Amino acid sequence: MTKKYKRHLITSALPYANGPLHIGHLAGAYLPADTYARYLRLKGEEVVYVCGSDEYGAAITMRAKKEGITPRQIIDKYHAQIKEAFARFGMSFDIYHRTSEAIHTQTSQEIFTRLHQQGKFTEQTSEQYYDEQAQQFLADRYIMGTCPKCGYERAYGDQCERCGSTLSPSELISPRSTLTNTTPVLRVTKHWYLPLNEYEPWLREWILKEKQDVWKANVYGQCRSWIEGGLQPRAMTRDLDWGIPVPLPEAAGKVLYVWLDAPIGYISATRAWAEQNGKNWEDYWKSDETRLLHFVGKDNIVFHCLIFPIVLKAHGEFILPDNVPANEFLNLEGDKLSTSRNWAVWLHEYLDELPGRTDELRYVLGSIAPETADSEFTWKDYQTRVNSELVAILGNFVNRTVVLMHKFLGGQTSQALAFTHPALQLATEQAYDAVDQHLANFKFKAGLFALMDLARTGNKYLTETEPWKTVKTDPAQAAEALHNALLLAAHLGVLCQPFLPETAQKIFKMLNLPQTRYAWQEPLVVPTGHPLNEPFLLFQKVEDADIERQIAKLQATKMDATTTPATPAPALAAAKSEIVYDDFAKLDLRVATVLACERVPKADKLLKLTLDTGLDQRTVVSGIAQYFAPEDLVGQQVMLVANLAPRPLRGITSQGMILTAQRPDGSLVLVRPTQPIEPGSTVS
Ligand code: 2FM
Ligand code: ZN
Repeated sequence: MTKKYKRHLITSALPYANGPLHIGHLAGAYLPADTYARYLRLKGEEVVYVCGSDEYGAAITMRAKKEGITPRQIIDKYHAQIKEAFARFGMSFDIYHRTSEAIHTQTSQEIFTRLHQQGKFTEQTSEQYYDEQAQQFLADRYIMGTCPKCGYERAYGDQCERCGSTLSPSELISPRSTLTNTTPVLRVTKHWYLPLNEYEPWLREWILKEKQDVWKANVYGQCRSWIEGGLQPRAMTRDLDWGIPVPLPEAAGKVLYVWLDAPIGYISATRAWAEQNGKNWEDYWKSDETRLLHFVGKDNIVFHCLIFPIVLKAHGEFILPDNVPANEFLNLEGDKLSTSRNWAVWLHEYLDELPGRTDELRYVLGSIAPETADSEFTWKDYQTRVNSELVAILGNFVNRTVVLMHKFLGGQTSQALAFTHPALQLATEQAYDAVDQHLANFKFKAGLFALMDLARTGNKYLTETEPWKTVKTDPAQAAEALHNALLLAAHLGVLCQPFLPETAQKIFKMLNLPQTRYAWQEPLVVPTGHPLNEPFLLFQKVEDADIERQIAKLQATKMDATTTPATPAPALAAAKSEIVYDDFAKLDLRVATVLACERVPKADKLLKLTLDTGLDQRTVVSGIAQYFAPEDLVGQQVMLVANLAPRPLRGITSQGMILTAQRPDGSLVLVRPTQPIEPGSTVS
């Protein structure tokens, strides 16, 4: 952030009120935003952090159909559940709103009307699928058929979940309605389109030039892929009966596209918050003294970086996001998190089954955050990180210090707290600076590690000074060491505030310090004679049984899962003849990170990837376009055969090959590390 802003408006993606929250949601869009909001508040900045439930669109009506209740019942049920889970998890939203509120309808319709009056939409008639039996037009998700790219028979109208291709319903072979299982017919309908293509020159300037080296590489890379791929007009209205009515007399029965109204939900949430707090919402959306930040997961990048900014720009009065620090995806125990397959750690269940452990979840998700590439949560890793890091390092240091203070100094300070050990003071100052720098640059994982490093320094200091021994020979020296350690513990409490808010409060409690928020690097004044509270454990060890229960629960969902109809499997490829180790050793196999990816024009099968190989940045052309959408690859890590002789493909020199594995049906999956690792790491 180069410019000094007067205030910050932080948003987290509005979760659909069609199911509970899981850890993937937290890791993607909520935990980083909450940490960042807390950090800015500690720095004395004015922050408003808004969120709410996304309650319209096909995601809701499909769930209602599945549960056999009305969309209104669905949103009431899940909005309440999500709101409660967030509150129990300690999210520091200034408001958690919902898009079914009247103020949201009003705000969305006002914005649509203004864009319409200014001629920002084009009206187009087109043929869309209509279910004659259900007497309704079909949202993309209500149409299933055979994927033209991979032949999967249960592909949706907008996407094939087998090969990941983005589709439009008209591309599906043998389409059928999921409502009635009948074949839909094409009917003419009129919609209002936002001509995204007209904004391309502006996006090139605003994103490709101005945000280069400012936005995260995974975000920038995805934007570049979309812009280079050519933007098309996109319909901003839908024929659906669940949504905000299009405010035009000739549009009866039509609603706003949920991806138009959902981000406007940030504005209506701010309006509601401002009304409740005697503020003017326009200061937050129409003043260039406000810094707007959208925290989202990778599937929402295009909406927050391209489409919503185009809406804001077309409107003419709104500010644009300064940054969209989106994360990649979190996987779970080797598989994609999935609500429909029940492959998830649900937040409300975690809170019930592992009570009192919110900071443990914050810590683990923060440590494995998918900041630049997809990452993975496993219960074993959760246990290791809690037991070997939180319990053994942070908890141990604070607890040990307070126990020793009670044992040797009667549980109260015998001198005012001030560092008398320059190295400890320096380490503390450096930890503040490191956390500051990392958080300011959205590097939450690195910030958390800097905090833990300071706790390690504390443990080392106690081990080296051994106050439990010197107390017998040199009590003054022992007291000095303990007071140094105590001051360090207090600073750890301050540093914990953005990341581990409950732990911070526990440390302040043990140290008998006010439970108020401590400002960043505020001098900690603790006088002589200050009594401490009784020591207690900051974190409890996670037992094997806790983990085994969770793993068994997940495995049970796999057993329950209905399998998709099997596609006849071709014979496995024949085994190859034996090689000697030296043949294998000739391969320079390395991990590389995909910085950018785009289709190769006029070549259906080819993708052009720009890779960070650790050694260099290079181009690889790969014949995988049928199975991967370019935007999904950006930010992923891949295995690269790095010493393959370059070869030209469609006029592009390909410098290497990326590895994939083939399923029996011929579709491909990437071969990649199970955890993020430095680009350039060798594979052997
Ligand atoms: O992907 C989702 O879950 C959407 N409900 C996100 C909406 S974000 C914003 F636009 F509100
Ligand atoms: Zn497919």
